[in-house]
Amino acid sequence: MSQRADELRTQILQLTAEYHAEAFPQKTFVAGQSFVPVSGKVIDGQDLSLLVDSALDCWFTTGRFAKAFEKKLARFIGVRGCSLVNSGSSANLVALTALTSPKLGDRQLKPGDEVITVAAGFPTTVNPIIQNRLIPVFVDVALPTFEIDVTQLEKALSPKTRAIMIAHTLGNPFDLGAVMEFAKKHNLWVVEDCCDALGATYKGQKVGTFGDLATLSFYPAHHITMGEGGAVLTNTPLLQTLIESFRDWGRDCWCEPGVDNTCGKRFDWQLGSLPCGYDHKYTYSHIGYNLKATDMQAALGLSQLDKVEHFIQVRRDNFQYLWKALEPLQDVLMLPVATEGSDPSWFGFPLGVRESAPFTRDQLVKALESQKIGTRLMFAGNLLRQPAYEGIEFRQIGDLPNTDFVMRNILWLGVFPGLDSAMLDHIVATIAQFASQAKALPVLS
Ligand SMILES: Cc1ncc(COP(=O)(O)O)c(C=O)c1O
Repeated sequence: MSQRADELRTQILQLTAEYHAEAFPQKTFVAGQSFVPVSGKVIDGQDLSLLVDSALDCWFTTGRFAKAFEKKLARFIGVRGCSLVNSGSSANLVALTALTSPKLGDRQLKPGDEVITVAAGFPTTVNPIIQNRLIPVFVDVALPTFEIDVTQLEKALSPKTRAIMIAHTLGNPFDLGAVMEFAKKHNLWVVEDCCDALGATYKGQKVGTFGDLATLSFYPAHHITMGEGGAVLTNTPLLQTLIESFRDWGRDCWCEPGVDNTCGKRFDWQLGSLPCGYDHKYTYSHIGYNLKATDMQAALGLSQLDKVEHFIQVRRDNFQYLWKALEPLQDVLMLPVATEGSDPSWFGFPLGVRESAPFTRDQLVKALESQKIGTRLMFAGNLLRQPAYEGIEFRQIGDLPNTDFVMRNILWLGVFPGLDSAMLDHIVATIAQFASQAKALPVLS
């Protein structure tokens, strides 16, 4: 690179940070007029500069920023292996699909095998089960953690049970003690969907380090963002090789993009019924995908990782702030409770409207939205009641009454670091005013 090119690059990066400060200044918040988002990215000049820096490499595909991100994230979580992918959904797809590899011998998941999960959550935690022609077995969630009801695990077991795949929904860890003990007893794979829960701990250990595989999402609503992005974590080298094979077209070769002959015998392999010496770069051991991320995504993630501890702390502080302020309304609202032994890394603040309350969840949502306060439902509510899942093959344990409660009665509020105390106060005041008006009237309709 010429000296002039280096100088220009430095200038561009400085200008990018300046541009960010100029183009995206802090806005003044006016209660009732400004929008209070439920989630969103928190980006600074450093983030944008690193993103531009990666673009100026003109490398574009997975490269040095991706490697640096994978290493840094693995260190933060405390796992050996981290593989970057292009979304949390891709992370879930590739994680479960890796377990269908024939290279796992008698532990390979085969069509018709059962995977225990829950229906109160995000669709792409469950979709890879169906996409791999495995059978989801739905157990209920417990209230008010809104996480898997571990007392139903034994009931869910059958001779076909091979794996458990569940999310730490909204950042509250599920009962990892009970789930891991059950999995160990019955020799089951565990996939932890940590997409909502980066940095959450259970008994002092980070989520994502308990199961065989774990996944993360870096969509803007999540704790750190790359725009679109995800990662699969594991401590098992064979599983990481399988993840990367399925991620990278199903290839047998494990060269980095742009690199040849890492194995040192590129033209000496004899695999399948290919002629001896067929180029290893074009040898496929799995029916794979291409789920790789670009280096620009990775650069943004790398810069965001510098701030992850702060982001998590603000989410926890905002959660506590809302909890304390809403505590007096517990006669009509069900407030969330952290799973015993856990320190959640909250994605949002789940709030339940009690059946006995003189208003419904939908009325509360409308009251909040009319005050320009963003809300979300707890993802799909009860997946089994969604049109896409009509006609799927599945088993369920009981009637899933708490899952239906989640579908009908739960909303969630934002806790992301883009919210300040004026916004949180506006959320609380709106809920308190709405609840007191509803209590004063016989029934709201
Ligand atoms: C629990 C859970 N799993 C998976 C995903 C999918 O992540 P992505 O949007 O990056 O595909 C989400 C998205 O919010 C999620 O909440």
